[in-house]
Amino acid sequence: PAEPESFYDAVGGMEAFDRLVHRFYQGVADDPVLRPLYPEEDLTAAEGRLRMFLVQYWGGPKTYSEQRGHPRLRMRHVPFVIGEAERDAWLRHMRDAVDSLALPAEQETRLWNYLVYAAHSLVNA
Ligand code: HEM
Repeated sequence: PAEPESFYDAVGGMEAFDRLVHRFYQGVADDPVLRPLYPEEDLTAAEGRLRMFLVQYWGGPKTYSEQRGHPRLRMRHVPFVIGEAERDAWLRHMRDAVDSLALPAEQETRLWNYLVYAAHSLVNA
């Protein structure tokens, strides 16, 4: 029997996640609250990590875990001070990125609700 289509496939596969994360990092690059948190000068590698994570989470290739191991997102964010201002800035850029995909309402809501939940769970300050 055919496998049920993943959310990853339903929204457009790698191309959609590429666009989502690229748009998000364009926002981060100019953000005075968020940009200082990112340790690397070049955001390309960070963009790749977030993309791989989201792709895996939504049922696409498991490259994230092959390269990075268990996600342990809370632990991996401990080095960064994430208060409400950082969370809200992160979500503002992600909202803009989600909007840019122009997904059907049901998919958009599912993706957005997850991102809001995940961002709230990573506040550590
Ligand atoms: C990594 C900030 C929320 C997923 C990072 C990094 C920073 C950061 C500064 C290091 C960049 C790098 O070099 O990889 C924030 C802030 C958030 C937030 C301020 C606001 C709440 C999220 C959310 C997710 C997420 C909601 C998932 C849905 C990731 C992943 C990495 C990462 C997968 C790379 C982890 C690794 O493999 O090293 N984040 N983040 N972040 N973040 Fe976030």
